[in-house]
Amino acid sequence: MPNNFTAELFAEAELQQAPRTEQVGPQAFVLRGFALPWIERLVPALRSVLRAAPFRQMVTPGGFTMSVGLSSCGQLGWTTDRSGYRYTGIDPQSGQPWPAMPEAFRELAQAAATEASFPDFAPDACLINHYVPGARMSLHQDKNERDFSAPIVSVSLGLPAVFQLGGEQRGDRPLRVPLQHGDVLVWGGVDRLRYHGVLPLKDGTHPLLGPRRINLTFRHAG
Ligand code: SIN
Ligand code: FE2
Repeated sequence: MPNNFTAELFAEAELQQAPRTEQVGPQAFVLRGFALPWIERLVPALRSVLRAAPFRQMVTPGGFTMSVGLSSCGQLGWTTDRSGYRYTGIDPQSGQPWPAMPEAFRELAQAAATEASFPDFAPDACLINHYVPGARMSLHQDKNERDFSAPIVSVSLGLPAVFQLGGEQRGDRPLRVPLQHGDVLVWGGVDRLRYHGVLPLKDGTHPLLGPRRINLTFRHAG
């Protein structure tokens, strides 16, 4: 009896730790807690990327200043200004190439893509989004990449958020997907061009990252 009890407790603990996969589309998956084993390597790597390429608030072609702060690492970084959205090899703020993609970032992105049945993912861009309470990202498609055969791998860190996963038309009613620290969302294939966004971040303070949410999105852009 005591042995069984211990075994049961152990099984339960294991279940809680094991990443849970939730399918949110034919080729879209939430990998719960998938990034947690990488956190100790991700955070210092993130800090050093941000020293070289700090968050900045960009302006959309329509003239709106984004509430989300942005940076990038990897061969290509995403920028927007009055002349449009695009990927560049140079950070327009520093005039230098974007910081290299840290090895821990790449490993996590590839492992998550593989887990979601995209085994050949070779990210060349990682966008880094910084949300403070109240910041949001309105519904959009990721379509500045050269081809859409590679998935998008999105890693949530810090405060929780509600991700909206819509359909291929802007007017399609979006699914609300709550995302926590360490969750990874992967969407590709037939789901690659679905509209998506993030609802305004609620107030709070995350024990590791403070009053913010940081999202890493990995793409094959070039
Ligand atoms: C994005 O769509 O680029 C960001 C999504 C997120 O912050 O979860
Ligand atoms: Fe996006």
